[in-house]
Amino acid sequence: MEETLVLIKPDGVKRQICGEILTRYERKGLIIKAMKLLQTPKELAEEHYAEHKDKPFFGELVDFITSGPVLAFVLAGKNAVTSVRTINGATNPVDATSGSIRGDYALTMDSNVVHASDSVDSAAREIHLWFPEYK
Ligand code: CMP
Repeated sequence: MEETLVLIKPDGVKRQICGEILTRYERKGLIIKAMKLLQTPKELAEEHYAEHKDKPFFGELVDFITSGPVLAFVLAGKNAVTSVRTINGATNPVDATSGSIRGDYALTMDSNVVHASDSVDSAAREIHLWFPEYK
């Protein structure tokens, strides 16, 4: 059983599409193991996006993820990391296939509705970061 961390970003929460997004993961067979709606503290956002801290868009990333409530959750299942990334679609919605979350709900890279861990190692780090009480 693999686990991965998913965030429905402030744009997804504001647009009230959390239910539709969760349905896609559950329909696939992924299991929700933990979940919370939270206003992301700036320190958590900076730590979450630490690998991008030298990129020119780092400030915008942090501003956006802290701009409103985020729905954070842990999903579990066989090949959960890859399966969730396939369901989400390419990071840039312009490249995301129709039928994926970003392909169906997003137009731009900065408001791309969801985040998911990109590897098993990232998932372990991110789950610990967002759910320190988990396990
Ligand atoms: P996410 O999966 O949350 O992980 C990092 C985020 O950075 C990514 O989704 C995009 O929203 C954002 N991102 C990646 N590349 C760029 C870029 N070139 N310009 C602006 N935002 C970006």
